[in-house]
Amino acid sequence: MIKPPDYVSEIRPYIPGKPIEELERELDIKDSIKLASNENPLGPSPVALKAIVDNLISSNSSNSLNRYPDGSGYYIKRALSDKLSVREDEIILGNGSNELIDIAVRTFLEPGDEAVMAHPSFIVYPMAVQAIGGRPVQIPLKHYTHDLEAMADAVTSKTRMFFIANPNNPTGTINKRVEFDRLLNRLPDGILVVVDEAYYEYVADPEYADSMKHFRDGRDILILRTFSKIYGLAGLRIGYGIARQDIIFEMNKLRPPFNTNSLAQNAALWALKDEDHVRYSLEINEQGKGYLYRELDSLGLKYIPTEANFIYILLGQDNPPLPPLIKGGAGGLYNKLLRYGVIVRPVGSEEIRVTIGLPEENKRFIEALKKSLVISHSQ
Ligand SMILES: Cc1ncc(COP(=O)(O)O)c(C=O)c1O
Repeated sequence: MIKPPDYVSEIRPYIPGKPIEELERELDIKDSIKLASNENPLGPSPVALKAIVDNLISSNSSNSLNRYPDGSGYYIKRALSDKLSVREDEIILGNGSNELIDIAVRTFLEPGDEAVMAHPSFIVYPMAVQAIGGRPVQIPLKHYTHDLEAMADAVTSKTRMFFIANPNNPTGTINKRVEFDRLLNRLPDGILVVVDEAYYEYVADPEYADSMKHFRDGRDILILRTFSKIYGLAGLRIGYGIARQDIIFEMNKLRPPFNTNSLAQNAALWALKDEDHVRYSLEINEQGKGYLYRELDSLGLKYIPTEANFIYILLGQDNPPLPPLIKGGAGGLYNKLLRYGVIVRPVGSEEIRVTIGLPEENKRFIEALKKSLVISHSQ
């Protein structure tokens, strides 16, 4: 019987946030809400949506669905190049930024090589590294934030990659400029620093690390961004990476030729132009964040202040005001919230991550949380 290599069988599969339809079927409920995957609750820009529809109905469009997409992504790369002041050959497009993590690993890591990353952080990094027989070296967060010094201490002669999610998923914390610059000064040449900025547009802190500066300085750095979050196009799968031309050139060899589809490229182009939608999305996120903070404070629940569109809520020992809470920890609370039709993300055994939704969704979550806590306390 065919078997994969051990390093593949040992991978624990990625479990995506539960789809709404699946939950409703399982529990026989309606009107449930999903606050589990950090999507923009407003959806995409209306301008981007119109572009998709126009695209679909215009029969002589070069984007017609019977045609392969533009494998080079000419127009969207040109728009990104103008917006970010980088050259087009310094940009690579991915089927979501997720694909670019994979491509980067396959391009630069050999079996046995090490990649340093934080824990908990985006689960795809260790999976991608394990998939090619590399060794993920996971360094615990410090104060819920990447401990860049401890991560740098973990670098060995076998280290080829260094992942930083900034902001971090699931904690929503950022690394600031001073510590980031210190790290880059410390890291030897020949290690690719992958800075995953999927939530870049949400960050408000003026001290947020400036990864682009290090790209402009010619360092071994790959910056990943996406149209899945604030641009509201998660379902179409498109993200991009920025790096020196030689890095992009090598990665492009392993990129499937038509990895981003024509609707995604066109929608991204228009989404990028619609700055009003981005501003409005930020406003809705800030309002929702304020509301959730107030409600969590009044429940005495501890959480980590976020620079993104989700909040990491602590249920365990870090949250002393709570009675021996939520029997079953994060999993227990997750299941109770499900019964009220609210899908969040349990993380580890004692934390949940909740995406900031529309005002009515946030209210639903808080109501369900209150009911779940009452049940838990009286159990
Ligand atoms: C930190 C981080 N990086 C990357 C991604 C993947 O995003 P994409 O949809 O662009 O593949 C996510 C998605 O949740 C994320 O949280």
